[in-house]
Amino acid sequence: MTGNPIKVLFLSPEVVPFAKSGGLADVAGSLPLALKRMGMDVVLVMPYYRTIKDKHLKGRWVVKDLEVPFGNDRLQADVFMTSLAKGIPVYLIDREDLYDRPNLYGTPRGDYYDNLERFAFFAHASLCLMESIDFRPDIIHCHDWQSGLIPAILKGPYGRSKHFSRTATIFTIHNLGYQGLFPAQKLPITGLDYRNFFHADGLEFWGNMSLLKSGIVYADAVTTVSPTYSMEIQTSEYGMGMEGILQYRQEFLYGILNGIDYHQWDPAKDKHIPETYYPNRMKGKMKCKDALIQEMNMDASFKNKPLAGMISRLDNQKGLDLLVAILEKILALDMGLIILGAGDVKIQRAIRKTADHHPGRVGLYIGFNEPLAHRIMAGVDIFLIPSRYEPCGLTQMYALKYGTVPVARATGGLQDTIIPFDKSTGEGNGFLFGPHAAEAFLASIEQALECYKDPQTWKRIQSNGMQADFSWDRSAEMYTEVYQTVLKKRNILA
Ligand code: ADP
Ligand code: GLC
Repeated sequence: MTGNPIKVLFLSPEVVPFAKSGGLADVAGSLPLALKRMGMDVVLVMPYYRTIKDKHLKGRWVVKDLEVPFGNDRLQADVFMTSLAKGIPVYLIDREDLYDRPNLYGTPRGDYYDNLERFAFFAHASLCLMESIDFRPDIIHCHDWQSGLIPAILKGPYGRSKHFSRTATIFTIHNLGYQGLFPAQKLPITGLDYRNFFHADGLEFWGNMSLLKSGIVYADAVTTVSPTYSMEIQTSEYGMGMEGILQYRQEFLYGILNGIDYHQWDPAKDKHIPETYYPNRMKGKMKCKDALIQEMNMDASFKNKPLAGMISRLDNQKGLDLLVAILEKILALDMGLIILGAGDVKIQRAIRKTADHHPGRVGLYIGFNEPLAHRIMAGVDIFLIPSRYEPCGLTQMYALKYGTVPVARATGGLQDTIIPFDKSTGEGNGFLFGPHAAEAFLASIEQALECYKDPQTWKRIQSNGMQADFSWDRSAEMYTEVYQTVLKKRNILA
């Protein structure tokens, strides 16, 4: 890159290692590092959730009593600064009544009733902070509905601000299923007015306001996390009602595949697993399997039998209903299964009920457990991802690196990263099924088990997967191109 470094304000509601509920956090914790390597000047802002406070991070208070407009009021916030890595500051917005709660977005009873207030405040506080510390971003890169208001308020209440007169916005959709829907009468809290913003070409969505739609409509460019998903979301099957507006914005819509962080996810140096391994030394994987079988109280006979795993948010998106539907049949094939998941109580109950019938053959851990996720990734042979839709999906990329063969639905990023194994050529790294149907999923598992029986074939599939490279640098280059395109369009970059 020549000239002045591009200044990026990166806004995500979750960032590894500070707070995580899903893949967005992994992305927000690693893409900024890659952007920094490309020579950009990156800062992050996120809420100072209780779970972050509990970590007692090193850092210092940098702003006290930041004045933030909030509807007709002004509220104050304090700001704590820590860092993601050397030279990448992370500003944490502290406002106890909004963020000092047990979870990020809600409880098992549902979302926090005041999420609009929480994230509208976050949006305004982020911009006020930029003014207060005098950081003038060229790009504000927003992620998912929680930061979807930013592109709109930059055109509304901050439209005349000199501070942001040279700022362009990028909005990344990680998941169209979370639309940030709130009742229309709450619009004044956002600082936007009805006449200019609450209409079909604005953030109005079937009578409600949608913060996701706000991001899609008002950002200079919209990206999503895989090429296939960027096409899918323009169809009625996957568009979740947003297909029209996405088609309308097609010229500014980019599908950029996520990368993964090989510092955290590499079986050759993973600190969470009992023994490390790499393509020419796979013995370690056997040890990981043995240890996992013990840890999860599985029947010892599974040491010599296929063992499948799943690590997932328990959400309708992830297709666990298909798994429950075929569970008896896959167990009849003498395959063991280990599931790690947190989320929806109904899905929890359904899986627990089936798992309880098969002690020793189904290992279940309900909860969020990062080290266990690593041990499962290393210890199982097959990884199951029967998603209804999957914008990108990170676990299949982790699985490939760990010599764990994915069996997944052909959709979104799963389709962009998994190449179906072809016995005749020896090419391919996993198994894909088309329709979201239990029989198709089962048939795909059976195909995998067939290959598992022949150690040479299995080795080949594993080694094909382990060679794949999904590191961030290539994706970061594509983001850079998008940044440069929007800056040029706005005549900000010569
Ligand atoms: P999504 O973002 O839709 O949940 P991804 O595949 O992109 O799906 O990312 C999921 C991330 O969350 C992965 O890093 C996965 O290992 C992790 N994860 C999901 N559920 C759990 C859990 N119960 N415990 C630990 N890690 C989990
Ligand atoms: C979302 C998607 C997932 C994607 C992740 C990170 O939560 O469900 O497919 O990998 O975001 O972009």
